[in-house]
Amino acid sequence: MGDPAVVKIFDTTLRDGEQSPGATLTIAEKLQVAEQLGRLNVDIIEAGFPAASPGDLTAVKEIAQLVRNVAVAGLARANKDDIDVAWEAVCAAEQPVIHVFLATSDIHLQHKLFLSREEALASVRAMVAYARSLCPTVEFSAEDATRSDHDYLCRVFEAAIQAGATTVNVPDTVGYTFPHEYEALFRMLRERVPGMDTVTMSAHCHDDLGMATANTLAAIRGGARQVEVTVNGLGERAGNTPLEEVVMALRTRTDFFGGIDTRINAHQLLATSQIVSRLTSVPVQPNKAIVGNNAFAHEAGIHQDGMLKNRMTYEIMTPQSVGWNDTNFVLGKHSGRHGLDARLRKLGYTLDADQLQAAYNRFVALADQKKLINDTDLNYIIESGKETP
Ligand code: KIV
Ligand code: ZN
Repeated sequence: MGDPAVVKIFDTTLRDGEQSPGATLTIAEKLQVAEQLGRLNVDIIEAGFPAASPGDLTAVKEIAQLVRNVAVAGLARANKDDIDVAWEAVCAAEQPVIHVFLATSDIHLQHKLFLSREEALASVRAMVAYARSLCPTVEFSAEDATRSDHDYLCRVFEAAIQAGATTVNVPDTVGYTFPHEYEALFRMLRERVPGMDTVTMSAHCHDDLGMATANTLAAIRGGARQVEVTVNGLGERAGNTPLEEVVMALRTRTDFFGGIDTRINAHQLLATSQIVSRLTSVPVQPNKAIVGNNAFAHEAGIHQDGMLKNRMTYEIMTPQSVGWNDTNFVLGKHSGRHGLDARLRKLGYTLDADQLQAAYNRFVALADQKKLINDTDLNYIIESGKETP
């Protein structure tokens, strides 16, 4: 079960994240990401889906052999062949994990797997037991759990726990649930499934309705002590829960979560985001929380003025705490005299009130024609305003 005050970070950037269109990585690139995830101090790296391709098998094997002090998981469908390959891939890890999944919603059972509920239940029981006969740590995921019948889901999780699962995962596979509903689902499962208190409950969310982070946080309030996340929210369709958002939400709102925290080294968040973005060629949107270029940028005059007086006015965490050098005061047409003055002082110009007003007038005129004003523009504004003899 582990420490109830700690939420384990199960990073699936190299498995679910890599399923993001166009985000495919070479084996060498996967190793680079895995090493960075080690520096970030994640608890589990889901390194791939070994049965999916020989390349994925090799990548998971190499990560399992090379990356230390972290558990390494390989995904497997609920069949012996997949489980054997997953075990071959992760067995050299310090802490190997086999992650077995099977869908439990009627939509998936009837239209994708052509299995009855009873057949699927028997398969979960047999395949989790088989995985557990090979590996001391086995996670079972009920794919599409949030659209599954609750009574049936309880029976499936009970069977998985009896068969030896050490973690049970409740995926919101299609990003369908709402926070209050997902939290209630975790509470219901904890209450009704025998043995649930002996295993780790895990949340796994997709962002189809833009609620993956909110849902993951709600699951933590409902009892989840593992969250499955990806760097930059990379993943199928609209992506998975972004690791950096959950980590910083817990750390910023300790009041709301009663001090529950992760073991993540937050100073590595920005570097990790940039490495993943560069290697996958998937850019990070500028307004992305925590790691986007504008996450700590302030342009509006009122905001810059507030920030110059006290940073807490417009920042709820320091940029340094997540790996940025500093706050970025962007000068544009919404900026005011205080922000301009502060930047000019940094550039070595100390102006009296009249000089500052004159410089500000020239600045506003230029800012109306240009999106952003850089230091070269500022030098020009000052130099061109000097009287010529
Ligand atoms: O979204 C999902 O259901 C998954 C499972 C394989 C855990 O990625
Ligand atoms: Zn997923």
